[in-house]
Amino acid sequence: MNLVFLGPPGSGKGTQADRLAQRTGMSHLSTGDMLRAAVKAGTELGKTAEGFMTRGELVPDDLLIAIIKEKIDSGELNTGFILDGFPRTIPQAKSLRRMLEENDANLDCAILFEVSDEEVVKRLSGRWYCPVCNEGYNYPMKLPREEGRCDKDGADLKRRSDDQPEVVQNRLEVYKKQTQPIEDYYREESKLVVIDGEQPPDQVFTSLLEHVS
Ligand code: AP5
Repeated sequence: MNLVFLGPPGSGKGTQADRLAQRTGMSHLSTGDMLRAAVKAGTELGKTAEGFMTRGELVPDDLLIAIIKEKIDSGELNTGFILDGFPRTIPQAKSLRRMLEENDANLDCAILFEVSDEEVVKRLSGRWYCPVCNEGYNYPMKLPREEGRCDKDGADLKRRSDDQPEVVQNRLEVYKKQTQPIEDYYREESKLVVIDGEQPPDQVFTSLLEHVS
């Protein structure tokens, strides 16, 4: 099964993709995680992407399409994938379709996690992560034992640079302008499944399993 996860920033795409990948063995490919790793490693891609990401804007289509093409052509997604954060524009959605066709593959459905702007702001203002082991925390659902420190290695917890309130507002606007049109693109292909992303994580996962099974 090949799936795309859609939804505004903080809608739970990464959380649910991790859980589904663990449950099913599908590959979970997060373009946001890949870009953050490139920024951390100081690669050419990372240097180009960093400014766009810090401002909450989209990284140019050609760079993202090249990343996904390499993954699809390599065959490493052949056992089924969850694309988390791609596509984000109509050109990306059309390229994905073409790349899959060229590899005799197909997208089964696009899952949209619907969450209000207020909930997005609340979630992202409470999100922290460990820069050493990448463990995620959030207030108030998952608190570290000692405030501001990772339970696993004691490192000081950090916030993503794009989780600052003014950047979150921009990410929401960018989502509405550039990414929301692909909801209609998949709706017209009868591939869009909408899930209430404001339920607690376990209930969102149950809804997700009902749809994909
Ligand atoms: P990316 O990392 O993809 O960011 P995003 O889409 O804005 O999504 P997030 O990672 O913030 O949220 P999420 O929906 O995964 O939610 P999560 O599970 O983490 O992209 C970052 C940047 O990279 C972009 O802005 C862009 O610059 C660039 N980029 C990436 N892909 C690109 C592309 N294709 N084209 C161009 N540019 C691209 O959950 C969020 C928080 O909420 C967590 O703390 C979590 O614990 C909590 N939470 C999750 N579910 C629930 C729940 N049900 N109830 C309560 N809390 C919950």
